[in-house]
Amino acid sequence: MARTALVTGGTQGIGAAISMALKADGHTVVAVYIGDDKVPETFKSETGIAIYKWDAGDSDACQKGIAKVTAEVGAIEILVNNAGITRDAPLHKMTLEQWQEVMSTNLTAMFNMTRGVIEPMRKQGFGRIISIASINGQKGQFGQANYAATKAGVIGFTKSLALEGARKGITANVVSPGYINTDMMKTLSEEIMASIIAQIPAGRLGETDEVARCVSFLAADEAGFINGTTLSVNGAQYLA
Ligand code: CAA
Repeated sequence: MARTALVTGGTQGIGAAISMALKADGHTVVAVYIGDDKVPETFKSETGIAIYKWDAGDSDACQKGIAKVTAEVGAIEILVNNAGITRDAPLHKMTLEQWQEVMSTNLTAMFNMTRGVIEPMRKQGFGRIISIASINGQKGQFGQANYAATKAGVIGFTKSLALEGARKGITANVVSPGYINTDMMKTLSEEIMASIIAQIPAGRLGETDEVARCVSFLAADEAGFINGTTLSVNGAQYLA
């Protein structure tokens, strides 16, 4: 059945593909973003998907934003916690700022957004919460102690939430991408990119649509008995 879905970081990269896949499934989709307006505005005019701007790492902004979306679009029934950033550095060079920025966007935002929708979902007796982790939260990655900590945190958070929501019709699941063809990869040097591809048995990066397909599957009404799981999309690079 058609639902109301919200995707954080939903106008670019993996998030944009997720927003479009959920729309193609017949859901009403809202994409939340921060930063420059140009790309999100183009995304909105090309896809017809509503965009809202707020910092998901900011608790007050989330409360106000969720209230606005609920009033203007409807109660959020599918939440996709997708927003994520990297601030890569080996730990001996990592600053507190690099640590905190990644915590805020990758982990606190997930708390803020999920906290904001969980009570209405419990009252409605239906909810789908899908959070995007990473292969590097499962296996660790040189230069990503901050990022890997948040992505492992996404998995622990989701398992706990699955237990809490199961009797209320709410499922919580993780989609864990490997290396996907997005702008995030453009921060890496050619040498590092070549070494990453060499480690992927599929011999290529994943595509954003291949991640979105998993979210679409888990968001469906029919996926009600899939709860607390982590679905890896990594070209067989890491088999957890
Ligand atoms: N394993 C072991 N040693 C490594 C290494 C690795 N993967 N990478 C670098 N080193 C070693 C280097 O050989 C070097 O050794 P020496 O000092 O003996 O010469 C030392 O560590 C320092 O390396 P760098 O010069 O590269 O250090 P830096 O401080 O300039 O850069 C870094 C560090 C920014 C973390 C850089 O190595 C890097 O960008 N690594 C890749 C991180 C990565 O994979 N990020 C993923 C981004 S995509 C993403 O996150 C999406 C997702 O979910 C999958």
